Amino acid sequence: MEILRDLQVKARATLPRPVYDYFAGGAGDERTLAENDAAWRALWLVPRVLTGVAVADPSVELFGRRLRAPLLLAPVAALRLLHPDGEVACARAAADAGTVFCLSTRATADLAEVAAAAPDAPRWFQLYMGPDRGTVAEMLRRAREHGYEQIVLTVDLPVAGRRDREDRHGPVAFPAGVTLADHLGGVTDPATAKPVVGGWQALTWEDVAWVREVSNLPVMVKGILTAEDARRAVRAGASAIVVSNHGGRQLDGCLPTAVALPDVTAAVAGAVPVLVDGGIRDGGDVVRALACGASAVLIGRPYAWALACGGQAGVARVLEALIADTARTMALVGAASVAQVGPAHVRPSHP
Ligand SMILES: Cc1cc2nc3c(=O)[nH]c(=O)nc-3n(C[C@H](O)[C@H](O)[C@H](O)COP(=O)(O)O)c2cc1C
Repeated sequence: MEILRDLQVKARATLPRPVYDYFAGGAGDERTLAENDAAWRALWLVPRVLTGVAVADPSVELFGRRLRAPLLLAPVAALRLLHPDGEVACARAAADAGTVFCLSTRATADLAEVAAAAPDAPRWFQLYMGPDRGTVAEMLRRAREHGYEQIVLTVDLPVAGRRDREDRHGPVAFPAGVTLADHLGGVTDPATAKPVVGGWQALTWEDVAWVREVSNLPVMVKGILTAEDARRAVRAGASAIVVSNHGGRQLDGCLPTAVALPDVTAAVAGAVPVLVDGGIRDGGDVVRALACGASAVLIGRPYAWALACGGQAGVARVLEALIADTARTMALVGAASVAQVGPAHVRPSHP
């Protein structure tokens, strides 16, 4: 979508190169980064005509909340590297657009500050588990106390992917006053720390239950790419599954999410919602994901570029553009509501 491409070009021209490369980059040779995009494009949209639909309603209900569209903001680390308002701006833009902001563990704002910025909006907290369970338990307690409604447990990062593009630059310099929150009310790394994690997330399926028990919140599992793991997650009590390969930043050469999604939705068979992210770049991609059985999608880099170029207003503009394009695409394929988008609305271009 042109607005998204323009914002990325502008962000590239204005951000310090190490910061741009941290947000833009993928793992290894960045094959998965490219193939996430290409795999959505490889699904043709199949329109039905004379349906009487000229105005489509893209709203959805997710976990008892009515969202204006099945389009959410994915957890992205260190957003104050892009704009002084960082996570706070994104939470407000999502609230104004009637959707959800998911806050990263590796945020540059404390979870309480983000909650206070948009107190009435639904908010989710993404969890990386460090080795100290006491600290994690306290973080989860605070997330619940501050009204986070879902814990998004990211499971595709037992170790950080090989990020050649980032490694070339060395540590990203944090602007003065910008630090990573520890979500216990303080800060974690020193201001110059590079926002890279890993090496300490040797998680198992038992940890899903542990997070649920300790947080007393629903726990969705982010980073699933196979039917087998999706079934396992449902058995482990996951509230939802996020089909994701971390935006191509972890295992290079793995399945693009558009390829993994139909297997996962078939295996889950409606037991829990299935969300998907990676390479969603216009309303057509949102409709493709819905047609493959997703309940909603998340975007990462598109809102990061919008934040870098225009702060809260920039993120708001991108959300409005994507929501409008989703509604337009639904009308063009002949679906009046999200429930009317189905498997017949897509066909693989390479069967
Ligand atoms: C710079 C950057 C930082 C990210 N940080 C996190 C994170 O802290 N936690 C997490 O679960 N996912 C993280 N992700 C992955 C996103 O949540 C999401 O899966 C991905 O960006 C979706 O792909 P897209 O950028 O192509 O839309 C990050 C992605 C990017 C680009």
